[in-house]
Amino acid sequence: MAETTTIDLLSGWPAQSLFPTNELSSAAVAVLKIPETYRAGLNYGDDEGYLPLRQNLRKYLANFYTPERKASVDRVCITGGASQNLACILQVFTDPLVTRTVWIIEPSYYLAFRIFEDAGFHGDKLRGVPPDEGGVDLGFLETAMKQVESTPAETTQQPIKPCQPHRKIYRHIIYCVPTFSNPTGLIMPLSKRQELLQLARKHDALLICDDVYDFLRWPSRPGVEVKQATATLPRIVDLDILDDEKDATSFGNCVSNGSFSKILGPGCRVGWGESTPRFIHGLTQAGSTRSGGAPSQMMSTIINELFKENFLEAHIEKTLIPEYARRYALFLAAIKHDLYPLGFRLDESVINRETVGGFFMWLQLPDGIDCYQLAARAATHGVSFSIGPTTAVTRPLEVDLPFKNFIRLCFTFEEDHRLVEGVRRIALAAG
Ligand SMILES: Cc1ncc(COP(=O)(O)O)c(C=O)c1O
Repeated sequence: MAETTTIDLLSGWPAQSLFPTNELSSAAVAVLKIPETYRAGLNYGDDEGYLPLRQNLRKYLANFYTPERKASVDRVCITGGASQNLACILQVFTDPLVTRTVWIIEPSYYLAFRIFEDAGFHGDKLRGVPPDEGGVDLGFLETAMKQVESTPAETTQQPIKPCQPHRKIYRHIIYCVPTFSNPTGLIMPLSKRQELLQLARKHDALLICDDVYDFLRWPSRPGVEVKQATATLPRIVDLDILDDEKDATSFGNCVSNGSFSKILGPGCRVGWGESTPRFIHGLTQAGSTRSGGAPSQMMSTIINELFKENFLEAHIEKTLIPEYARRYALFLAAIKHDLYPLGFRLDESVINRETVGGFFMWLQLPDGIDCYQLAARAATHGVSFSIGPTTAVTRPLEVDLPFKNFIRLCFTFEEDHRLVEGVRRIALAAG
């Protein structure tokens, strides 16, 4: 059947056919039947979020990430998803007059940029860090941080936010997606994670890691099964735990921003934050949480039911991963068949890694066409995707926009035949 509607390779959305509607429906009924759970769910929640969900998450995250030291439950709080939590993190731990710069590891998740702008970080205060082969040019970052620190601030640097014991104002913020990056699919190597953390410690920076794709991983060779339900590499937040004493007293230098959006459904609006107990306590003292309780309280009680009999883990391992791995292989084959002969390329170091994952492919365009030209022509052929320059912080003085010979394609949202047809239409647009 001919596809008449625009094929959406732009939206970074999960497959709608994989939403676990039956289990969510049973979970909602179970919660609403029992006074203990519906009272908890329909009332204001604790600032830290629904305790049974925090406990289940703590166990699940420990099994998946296998950190050297198991996290205590006070390292985890419930959030309204990664976007909402990013805004809360900035509300509590930054001050636009004291925090000098927000550093974005580029190319990046572009919808985060406005969250930084809303918190007062734009222009010179929101800066990109270019990639190198390991995903981030740390030499550039260190030099630029030193430069900022040696330049006198334009203001008196008196904070505009009141000083509170739960708050620490960091001098810098570094934002990144270390595993299966949006948009590149890249996994930041362990050595870079360690160096980035050292840099953060040295310069009083908070590393905000959106760890939202970590669970969705599969072997790059089709047919090979995922052996164990464990992470590819340690999260930076796990590298930031030194010892009990530091963990109990320090704010630390990293927060992991987790989410159920990619593994259940974005409409759930539930996620989690993980960091030192002191940081997590501070985060849960954000004004909106003190007033309204933890966000998404009712949905937290419903999601908690999905930990029973390990449903959530089985859903990820037995439903999402095989299906996304299949779509990935199909999409990759279509790109190689239709677009490689025209000169399009994917990063071999990403697609040939033992483990691949996430939601996106980052496609380099052939010489002679840029992403603006291709997107305009693609629109007439009925296919959409996001274009490279949107993934970089705006650079008003630079004529040569970064990443203009790249596009980002999402392979999880559309069904098989539309994925293949979408690639065919890109080929037509480029031809
Ligand atoms: C890196 C990254 N962070 C955050 C989000 C949004 O997460 P949430 O739905 O939990 O707000 C996305 C969604 O595309 C993302 O790719």
